[in-house]
Amino acid sequence: MKIEKVGVVGAGLMGSGIAEVAAKAGFDVVVREIDDASADRGRGRIEASMDRAVEKEKLSAEERDAALERIAFTTKVEAIADRDLVIEAIVENLDAKNELFGALDELCSDRAIFASNTSSLTITDMAAATDRPDRVIGLHFFNPVPVMRLVEVVRTIATSDETFEAVVDFARAVGREPIAAKDNSGFVVNLLLVPYMLDAVRQLERGVASIEDIDTGMVLGCGHPMGPFTLADFVGNDTILRIAEIMFDEYREQRYAPPPLLRRMVSMGRHGRKAGRGFYDYSGDEPVPIPV
Ligand code: CAA
Ligand code: NAD
Repeated sequence: MKIEKVGVVGAGLMGSGIAEVAAKAGFDVVVREIDDASADRGRGRIEASMDRAVEKEKLSAEERDAALERIAFTTKVEAIADRDLVIEAIVENLDAKNELFGALDELCSDRAIFASNTSSLTITDMAAATDRPDRVIGLHFFNPVPVMRLVEVVRTIATSDETFEAVVDFARAVGREPIAAKDNSGFVVNLLLVPYMLDAVRQLERGVASIEDIDTGMVLGCGHPMGPFTLADFVGNDTILRIAEIMFDEYREQRYAPPPLLRRMVSMGRHGRKAGRGFYDYSGDEPVPIPV
């Protein structure tokens, strides 16, 4: 099956990056958001990212303009009806994702493939809620999508070979390196990465060191590109909390349990970089740690 027309649902941190790499690779992309303001924010994120690539001479101005022309924004779910592949990147909530796939199941052609960018939900729980379980698959990109080369391709026991192969070809066409992962909560990377970030929050709760020193420790001591709190703010603390709740519910293991401090941060709206505040305050030129 040839994928030419791509739909992306949700233009937050991930959806905007997925739309960007698909458009740059020549795909015709329709992005659906819930309202005009969110769609405008998504478009702004894509433009800023492509402008940065032009400044760094990785993309010509003509290529940027042509890629932007290939992306249409909409708030209407019907505008996704003619897509060959729909990738959802909405909030990490099974009911929300299933409501969306339920609507798309009615609207889209029987041949259309539905992919989820979920971090921690199981694809089977989404496939089972559609009339096309053979055409539902996980396609898990990493943040920031234009930079991170990995994509986890996740098949359920119902996913067809045809769907898997078409999606692997798509992942390569958008410049990613696919790995095949089983449909277990957290796939491969988040199984290891999420407990690490949660553990950093637990160490902060215990008072072993400051936010800044724990971050510096992991950057200079282990060569990580970001320390765990910078990374948590980058991913989004609200998203990490949802992921932890889902993984804890699945495995009932302490290492996935959301630490109380993370809940308090989310209650206070300290969702991270996208909100201007998280473990750090991003209102100035340089991020400043906020003592907890
Ligand atoms: N969009 C597009 N390009 C970006 C970008 C963005 N948001 N942020 C950085 N870049 C590009 C820059 O243009 C630059 O490109 P060149 O090297 O070609 O010039 C490159 O990335 C490096 O950027 P900077 O020099 O500005 O910054 P940096 O060296 O600090 O790197 C980073 C930034 C790539 C984000 C790096 O810090 C990093 O790799 N961090 C870890 C990211 C990570 O672990 N992601 C996974 C999160 S978990 C996840 O995604 C799964 C989940 O389900 C939660
Ligand atoms: P985000 O909060 O930045 O964006 C979510 C967007 O979805 C918002 O703009 C919201 O308006 C929109 N939305 C919600 N319901 C919608 C609907 N029914 N139709 C259209 N748009 C809708 O979240 P994000 O960080 O981009 O995460 C999106 C998904 O990707 C989640 O499942 C998350 O677990 C996963 N993910 C996140 C990361 C990360 O680092 N943040 C990495 C990989 C995967």
